[in-house]
Amino acid sequence: MKLVAKTLYGLEKVLGEEIIKMGASEVETGNRAILFKGDKSLLYRVNYCARTALSVLMTISEFRIRSKEDLYNGGSKIEWDRYMNVDDTFSIAPVVNSIYFSHTGYAGLILKDAIADYFRKKTGKRPSVNTEDPALLINLHISNDLVTISIDSSVIPLFKRGYRQEQGAAPLNEVLAAGILLISGWNASATLTDPMCGSGTIPIEAGLIACKVPPGKFRKFFGFQRWKDFDDELFEKIKREADSKIEVSPVKIYGSDISEKAVQQAKSNIAGAGLSDVVSIEMSDFKYLKAENDSRFLFLNPPYGQRLQPDEIDTLYSMIGTSLKHNFPGATAWLITSNKECLKNIGLKPAAKYTLFNGALECVLVKYEMYEGTKKHKKL
Ligand SMILES: C[S@@+](CC[C@H](N)C(=O)[O-])C[C@H]1O[C@@H](n2cnc3c(N)ncnc32)[C@H](O)[C@@H]1O
Repeated sequence: MKLVAKTLYGLEKVLGEEIIKMGASEVETGNRAILFKGDKSLLYRVNYCARTALSVLMTISEFRIRSKEDLYNGGSKIEWDRYMNVDDTFSIAPVVNSIYFSHTGYAGLILKDAIADYFRKKTGKRPSVNTEDPALLINLHISNDLVTISIDSSVIPLFKRGYRQEQGAAPLNEVLAAGILLISGWNASATLTDPMCGSGTIPIEAGLIACKVPPGKFRKFFGFQRWKDFDDELFEKIKREADSKIEVSPVKIYGSDISEKAVQQAKSNIAGAGLSDVVSIEMSDFKYLKAENDSRFLFLNPPYGQRLQPDEIDTLYSMIGTSLKHNFPGATAWLITSNKECLKNIGLKPAAKYTLFNGALECVLVKYEMYEGTKKHKKL
């Protein structure tokens, strides 16, 4: 099968590595996506186990067009009854960038007609569209003259892990949090601290990685469970295999936040993920936290500044720099923010920089190395 795992900008490399480890072949990097070949077990496994995939699509047809009619004709040639029954509902998600269509929705309507006419000719009945809760979610991608039609095997995006009980004011996307951890090279043996943990996304994703808990463990539903060829026994086997690797990790994972509400939210989300014995949360202002010389990893996702005055946000970022320098010798810090301007207030030279997206928001991820003992910090 030709499969496509979609991800956030900047996470293609880590997702590719995850998918290669799961046994995929012919792995290629696309735009916010990894293209690969695999069978049904791999499709189920990537949905259940990949930490940095947003969804997994199975390509069912690819063809070129020279007119709108070609889309109808190409869509009509697909044997739709391999994928759905006439009584099943469907929905089309179109992504169109083509001279043949000025309206994305119109391309979707043409494909919808092709599917409806296919069933009408065969059965005398037309399947219904249900955009809220379709049995089959069809992805229509048109790039210039190339049409790719796929079925979404996830339907509910995979960042919706199912452990979150409380939302938080500005939570990181779970896939992004996992991606940052994988990019950082944290190997689940060094102590990890998120001193501005908000609703706890980074410590939770870290706990799941450390204990080898599959990210899909808390989900109730994957799109492929409604497919005509769904193999319940195979899916149960994949889950059993993945779950059998879960182990208690001795690593220390800490989260803290200045806000009492955030601390409560983090605690309840941590309980939702079954990690209360692995992740400790406390209420604290970052400026009061300290660690002896150690090689811990800090992950910081400070406020971006929308709700703060410019001088408050400058003070906050310079406090972060000072605290990192003086209170965490020997540590490696990773900081993600959409406020690039504020980074200069940190006053440390980044050892690495990446552009990532938190949903639609462009962010920068920077790495700072704190030297142990008396070594001088390099200034920007
Ligand atoms: C962008 S949010 C973090 C969101 C978090 N990553 C999540 O997924 O929910 C920033 C957090 O920094 C906290 N914060 C702001 N100033 C702080 C300080 N001086 N010390 C500790 N936490 C602070 C805020 O209370 C807020 O929860």
